Amino acid sequence: MPTPLAPLPKAELHLHIEGTLEPELAFLLAERNGIDLPYATPEELRSAYAFSDLQSFLDLYYRLTAVLLTEQDFTDLAEAYLVRAAAQGVRHAEVFFDPQAHTARGVELGTVVRGLARALDRSEERHGISTGLILSFLRDLPAEDALRTLADAAPYLDRISAVGLDSAEVGHPPAKFTEVYAEAKRLGLRLVAHAGEEGPPAYISEALDLLGAERIDHGIRCLEDEALVARLVAERIPLTVCPFSNVRLRCVDRLEDHPLPAMLAAGLLVTVNSDDPSYFGGYVEDNYQGLRRALGLTDGQLRLLARNSFLASFVDEARRAELLAELDAHPSSG
Ligand code: ADE
Ligand code: ZN
Repeated sequence: MPTPLAPLPKAELHLHIEGTLEPELAFLLAERNGIDLPYATPEELRSAYAFSDLQSFLDLYYRLTAVLLTEQDFTDLAEAYLVRAAAQGVRHAEVFFDPQAHTARGVELGTVVRGLARALDRSEERHGISTGLILSFLRDLPAEDALRTLADAAPYLDRISAVGLDSAEVGHPPAKFTEVYAEAKRLGLRLVAHAGEEGPPAYISEALDLLGAERIDHGIRCLEDEALVARLVAERIPLTVCPFSNVRLRCVDRLEDHPLPAMLAAGLLVTVNSDDPSYFGGYVEDNYQGLRRALGLTDGQLRLLARNSFLASFVDEARRAELLAELDAHPSSG
């Protein structure tokens, strides 16, 4: 039997650290912190992972954050992700975290950032993964909350590379956060935003025009607007697509129906990511392999997706050159 090839080296650009909380770790942390979970076993919790839409997922996702209390909890969460990511070929990860989901429960922002940073800062040495941290605002809360969170993040800005926008999309257009993003830009942060996951293509245009987003998270509904697709192609705006997530949250019926091949054919700068891998049935390489199986993506297309992930990342040019060279040296038949 030939030895299976190592997964392609790649960057993961759309990953919520809270969405990497595996049921076993949730139980371990619950016990360590004396918290009761409304499930008897990790298996019973896992069987609750059946979602009808984004909100039904978010309800469970926020409920389970209750087990994350101390710096060590956040370090353990990030370390567990990095171990899995390394096995999936990840060489660079830009990791979202939702500060408001924690500060609303009385956990200080510093506890969250210091805990995550402890794992992320040693990740290049331990796992060969360089990292960035993206502070993401909850769009279903008022813009004033986001502004306050950004102000509270002042002591940690050297460890934060970008801001993002997530949570319930429909009814919370990017326009609501114009002032917040202007302030983030003034502070020297990079700008990304979830748009066009459940929300309409107009939210993607708004994220570009009103927020100055440099990268769009999801963006799959851009295909409903030809002029928008032409713009995204012309401006080389990266889209961080999450196929397993789209199926589990019922944005797409089946993986076989996923629009990713159409997005590639249109010339969009598409990347593939895992979003909330504990909840959606797989990590990033699992998404790549799922696309191969369900849609017949070729080695060449998978290689293009990996290449795009490095092009779309916020690494400096020296690191980008190193990552691209590693990909070029990888012996896949693509
Ligand atoms: N928070 C975590 N995962 C998310 C997603 N897929 N969309 C919006 N907010 C999220
Ligand atoms: Zn997301």
